Amino acid sequence: MGHHVFTRDLTNDYPVASYGEGIYIIDDNNREILDACGGVVAVSLGYNNRYIKDRLKDQIDRICFAHTGAFINKPIINLADRIMSHLTSEFGKAYFVSGGSEANETAIKLARQYWHDTGHKKKSKIVSRLMSYHGNSLGVLAVSGNPARQKLYAPMLRKQPKIAPHYCYRCPYGKTEGHCNLECANSLEKIIQKEGKEKIAAFIAEPIVGASCCGAEGSREYFKKIRQICDENDVLLILDEVMTGAGRTGRWFASENYAVIPDIFTLGKGISSSYMPLAAMVCKDKIANGISKGAFVHGFTFSGHALAAEAGNAVFDYIDEKSLLVKIGYGSAYLFKRLEEMKEKYPWIGDVRGLGYMAGIEFVKDKKTKEPFPEELNLTGKIKAECWKNGMLIFAGTRMKVKIDRHLVEQGDHVMLAPHFITTRSELDTILDTFEMSVKNVMEKVA
Ligand SMILES: Cc1ncc(COP(=O)(O)O)c(C=O)c1O
Repeated sequence: MGHHVFTRDLTNDYPVASYGEGIYIIDDNNREILDACGGVVAVSLGYNNRYIKDRLKDQIDRICFAHTGAFINKPIINLADRIMSHLTSEFGKAYFVSGGSEANETAIKLARQYWHDTGHKKKSKIVSRLMSYHGNSLGVLAVSGNPARQKLYAPMLRKQPKIAPHYCYRCPYGKTEGHCNLECANSLEKIIQKEGKEKIAAFIAEPIVGASCCGAEGSREYFKKIRQICDENDVLLILDEVMTGAGRTGRWFASENYAVIPDIFTLGKGISSSYMPLAAMVCKDKIANGISKGAFVHGFTFSGHALAAEAGNAVFDYIDEKSLLVKIGYGSAYLFKRLEEMKEKYPWIGDVRGLGYMAGIEFVKDKKTKEPFPEELNLTGKIKAECWKNGMLIFAGTRMKVKIDRHLVEQGDHVMLAPHFITTRSELDTILDTFEMSVKNVMEKVA
């Protein structure tokens, strides 16, 4: 390997990404890889984007960093304004950090301090959903519902209450979508009653699930119920829009699709199109104003980094100037149309789900019974590897088997296509053709 980098998998010999252009990454052997998932649903505006580069260069010439213990800076002022301009007037503050895990840590700590400082000192637990992911630092790993990522660290994680996901394809309660009483949402009320509402600070959820159940969406009815339960029990609603925010669903924030207004939400990944490490925690004024003497007991060295925030401003401007949200609408309709056609055509695509440029695909051995392929087969790994062999990167979900209210729910293998917002129609076709061919190649060997 000849280097000293502590890579993600020390047994893997990773190619060196030397250059990027549009939706392609070129390695040091001049091999081109088509990025069909924005790395990890994180890059949205292509590699080597001239506009963003120029904006960053301008900012470098001014100032990159001044510690927020002593200063604020223009890029964070502008980016906070920009975010607020798309929100209702209840929202008033944005706190900038370097990644999604930090943003969610910031959100749950703010929820805790808000309740503490407003006289509800026992409120410290965070309810979340099984089959979810909110980050890898210990605080947010504890509120995640992803056993594969948690198992090793379980002795270090605080036990946080979990409820059912909104996973209609495999409803834990055996119901079908649109013909249920939203038991999954009602399970929030049940757990609040069980734990005691005086102990629950917040409920956190991804509007559309990422790694833990690729593309599993909420719905208007679901979030209406969740909002109502939170309000009735003095529980803050935190939406984790690290993956779904900053345009990914064709709206600035995924919550808009479901007409739900959280108390706090987080952004990451696409907020800077990954040109700089940037994420944000955004909250209502009511929450910020609840902090005693205005001093949030929190902060990182790189919070409010000027250069990173300027990448965020450039992303918002670029998306606006190129009308990319409208383009995602059209592109997404095409993406889902073709995936639905594949679902009709092939016996092993059980579910196609998601919104905008977040398309989850779940594979099954038997479409009727929804029986998954055996886990040992590592179908997700095989499909990802075959796509890679064919020159394309896709997003692999973490498959899991989870006990939900005494029902065992086992997912099938699931992956996600999450194109860059700048993807052209012909590039979308290349993505879909390569995906179809790769999956067929794998299935010919295993099915
Ligand atoms: C929904 C969601 N929340 C939080 C995170 C954590 O973000 P980061 O890896 O930037 O810390 C991720 C990352 O995949 C995510 O998908």
